[in-house]
This record gives sequence, structure tokens and C-alpha cells, in this order.
Amino acid sequence: MKIFLDSADIKEIEELVITGLIDGVTTNPSLIAKSGRDIKEVTKEICNLVPHGPVSAEVTAMDYETMMKEADVLRKISDNIAIKVPLTFDGLRACKALSGEDTLVNVTLCFTANQALLAAKAGATFISPFLGRLDDLGMDGTELISEIADIYMSYPEFETEILAASIRSVKHVKDVALLGADVVTLPGKVLKAMYKHPLTDAGLEAFNADWATTGQSIL
Ligand code: E4P
Repeated sequence: MKIFLDSADIKEIEELVITGLIDGVTTNPSLIAKSGRDIKEVTKEICNLVPHGPVSAEVTAMDYETMMKEADVLRKISDNIAIKVPLTFDGLRACKALSGEDTLVNVTLCFTANQALLAAKAGATFISPFLGRLDDLGMDGTELISEIADIYMSYPEFETEILAASIRSVKHVKDVALLGADVVTLPGKVLKAMYKHPLTDAGLEAFNADWATTGQSIL
């Protein structure tokens, strides 16, 4: 399973990329706004930090023609850009055109299995179902991942990867991993919460206390 960071915060990406666990980054207009940075500058810096992984940069236009112009600007930033388009009529049209030009495309704001089916037909590299936002409405985000996985499995011609997005908790991560999502995109705080366990901390404390009584040093 690939792990992407859902962030446009350079400091946070720098801090976590050194683990070697980060396979890519996703951004969106809200994350760019939160960074307070110019989209082209910050996206370029992210691409340099994760040179071997896709970095999703989202178009903001609503119509096909302007989306294509924006995509052209964004994909020139770096070879590892994936253009993020919304799951709309124009977004699907842009996805089909861009994937035909060998551009990586991430279709975002997916909330139903039928939307995911259309994105795969349009040649999306990634489909981004938003778990947390469905859960916020009292719906079951993991059920959506399960349905998409079943549909994609039935049609081997679909090469679209399921990129579980809008992840709010470590439980979400485990649920989508159990369902076989290809990728999960995580806020930094969720990635950090994944390795933390009180029994790990307590065990380490006990080992260190016992080790100190030996008076030994490995080095
Ligand atoms: C994914 O690509 C989106 O950027 C992101 O996961 C949305 O998450 P949110 O619902 O927490 O804003």
C-alpha cells in the first residue's frame, strides 16, 4: 500500500519524508490556501522533496477549456505532477483528455461507486473517494471503498488506483488497508498517530531501565 501525505506544508513534508515511507503528496485548493504560499512555488518545492512520487495539484476552473489550460501550467511544474480534477462532467472530460496525453490524473471529490466507475472509464490514474466527509454526514465511507474495490476487481481493464482520501483517524487507515485500497493519503498527524502505542512506550521505558542496570554500552 502506498502512503501519500495530504499536505502543502513544506515543514511537515520535510519532517516526514525522511522516514522513507512517503510515496507521494496530495494537495488541494484549501491546503494551498492554508500554506499561504503561491501554488506554483509551493508545488515545485513539494515535487523536489518527493521526486519519485506523484504530487497531486488541483485545477480550480469549472469548465473543460480552462481546466485544460490550468492543467498545462501545473504539469509543467515537474515531471511528477498528477493533475487533480473534480468529479464533474467537465472534470471527467479533462481526465479523459489528459490521460490520453500520458499525464497522471487524480479524480477527486468522489462520493459514489458510480462516480468511481466513470473516472476509471475516463482513464484516471487515481480515484479519490472522500471517507471522512461521508462519515461526517453519518454515512459509511469504508463501504464506498469496498464497493469501488469490488467494481474495479470485476473489470481488469480498469487500471485506476483507489486513493483513499479525507482520512481522519488511524481506524480509517486500518479499514481502507483491510479493504485493499492501493493508496491512502494522510494528514501528518494521522501518520504520526499510526506508530504511537502506550504499550510500546511503556515497554521501551522498562527495557531502558533494565539496560541501565547492566552498565553495558553497545558502542
Ligand atoms: C484528498 O486528496 C483531499 O486533499 C483530502 O483528503 C480532503 O480531506 P478533508 O476532507 O479532510 O479536507
